[in-house]
Amino acid sequence: MNPIGIIGGTGLTRLAQLAGQDSELVPTPYGAPSAALVRGVVGGRQVAFLARHGSPHRIPPHRVNYRANLWALHAAGVRRIIAVAAVGGITEGMDDGRVIIPDQVIDYTYGRAHTFFEEDLEEVVHVDFTEPYTPALRRELIAAARELGLDAAETGTYAATQGPRLESAAEVDRLERDGCHIVGMTAMPEAALARELELEYASVAVVANRAAGRADGEITMARIEATLVAGMERVGRLLERVLPQ
Ligand code: HPA
Repeated sequence: MNPIGIIGGTGLTRLAQLAGQDSELVPTPYGAPSAALVRGVVGGRQVAFLARHGSPHRIPPHRVNYRANLWALHAAGVRRIIAVAAVGGITEGMDDGRVIIPDQVIDYTYGRAHTFFEEDLEEVVHVDFTEPYTPALRRELIAAARELGLDAAETGTYAATQGPRLESAAEVDRLERDGCHIVGMTAMPEAALARELELEYASVAVVANRAAGRADGEITMARIEATLVAGMERVGRLLERVLPQ
């Protein structure tokens, strides 16, 4: 059976549940992925885990080699990916530690290598991206979150910003006017590249902080990391629940 791919974000650089693991640095035509793929078993299910920001965590969002990461997972036989991401909460209810299974994305990033379809083409390719997250995989995540009573937000629009700095309050106001509920720095081009490789792709986002202008006081990495400890524990339970199916 094909392994399920898990891309871990800030707060999830390794999967504690992975049994019998081995790791392999998969070379790609796009260079090296962020880290070695760690393969193992969770709940009887083959898993290939990749730390998006490297292990240890030191590749900032705009420097992640998204093409190499997606290519490496595909080359390892992965056909379904669950992408874990830390985000800022914009709208009401998107509070610290809340889990969201986003259904839409708006891309505010720039200058990132964002497509496989640009060199040596026989024809121009435009993939459909109406539903950026694979509905069937989202449904599985939603069902598992309900079974666990996680009170996850079952829809949400993810604003993908360039980073690595956090946003200004006015930028977050604009994201809200655009219809975004959460803000992070990594969903794009990751989701689009997965679509170009015809991989199923869905995301579990965790609110690490209230976004700029909605938080009291400064947003610090120390606060983000402290919030993520509890949030990622929930994500771990969700992954354990969804994987054995
Ligand atoms: N903005 C963008 N990305 C983030 C944030 C934020 O407030 N928190 C965690 N990732």
